[in-house]
Amino acid sequence: MTLPTLSTTAAYMTDRGAAYCGDSRELLRQLSDESVNLVITSPPFALQRKKEYGNKGQSEYLDWLMEFAELVHRKLRSDGSFVLDLGGSYRQGVPVRSLYNFRVPIHLCDDLGFYLAEDFYWFNPSKLPSPIEWVNKRKIRAKDSVNNVWWFSKTEWPKADVSNVLTEYSERMKKLIQDPNGFYKPKKRPSGHDISRGFGKDNGGAIPSNLLSIPNSESSGHYLEGCKAVGVKGHPARFPVKLPEFFIRFLTDPNDLVVDIFAGSNTTGYVAEYEGRCWLAFEESLKYLAASSFRFVEKGVSVEQMARVHDQIAQGEMVNVAEELAADGLFTGSGIQQADQARTSAS
Ligand SMILES: C[S@@+](CC[C@H](N)C(=O)[O-])C[C@H]1O[C@@H](n2cnc3c(N)ncnc32)[C@H](O)[C@@H]1O
Repeated sequence: MTLPTLSTTAAYMTDRGAAYCGDSRELLRQLSDESVNLVITSPPFALQRKKEYGNKGQSEYLDWLMEFAELVHRKLRSDGSFVLDLGGSYRQGVPVRSLYNFRVPIHLCDDLGFYLAEDFYWFNPSKLPSPIEWVNKRKIRAKDSVNNVWWFSKTEWPKADVSNVLTEYSERMKKLIQDPNGFYKPKKRPSGHDISRGFGKDNGGAIPSNLLSIPNSESSGHYLEGCKAVGVKGHPARFPVKLPEFFIRFLTDPNDLVVDIFAGSNTTGYVAEYEGRCWLAFEESLKYLAASSFRFVEKGVSVEQMARVHDQIAQGEMVNVAEELAADGLFTGSGIQQADQARTSAS
């Protein structure tokens, strides 16, 4: 697929994608209907505690989010998906939960015609205890470390292939595969399930569950290192690379179009680039987009080069980061990934 061109000028572009600054409702309207394979995003949540990028209160939240969701529905292909990461929240001043994140799937399905393909849960083991009043001080609630990740589809049959996101087998399963006869006798389980010998077949990995355990504790990587080197603040609410990576691999093929409508530091565009997908990132803050260019920096690029690109984007000048942030003038998505993975595993 070739990347759609919008009438708005991009903030920056790469070989496979482009980041646009603006209200994503306006930017979505510029896309052709039925043209997008996957929209994956994490909107500002309806939190009591205000974030620096502004978030809606619980009462107005649904109406606000529906405006975006309606446009997403129109722009998705019939086999397309909309993945929405939503954190939970408490009601003002009392230790009871808001129901806003549960109302979202009901409205999207009942009023906009989406289907709930599957409900996922993102468990962040590194989440800090909050809210302080109920969890730390009064000790009457457990810490909240799971987000809802709603996977919506436009029809009952979205494109999906779980074999692209297999996880490592457990040690027990590895032993079973090595020696099925010595380890396991086919028999009926008390539940009535007939566990046959086929159970010991090596399928290359285990089927993942809808509970995704992904720590959000990145302390290194191109993005943060770039922010530090150039002296700008990182985005305060990034999701981890592994979250969009899972859904991009699961729900799209190479060259498909992936869009993030609340792009922030453009985690989604970065993953889509190294996964060989086309991408569009929509974000209303130019400051966040300027810093997000650090995600595409290749090894050997100088801090001066990074600062220049950052400042050009921040001043509204369109930059081709594939040309400007490649160490030897050749931009390689896989180069980015390898360097970042090496950093992640070393940390
Ligand atoms: C939770 S953050 C997304 C962070 C992102 N997932 C990441 O990994 O960096 C939500 C973002 O939505 C942006 N935003 C809020 N309203 C918007 C709108 N109407 N159009 C475009 N972006 C918007 C905010 O500026 C904020 O950066």
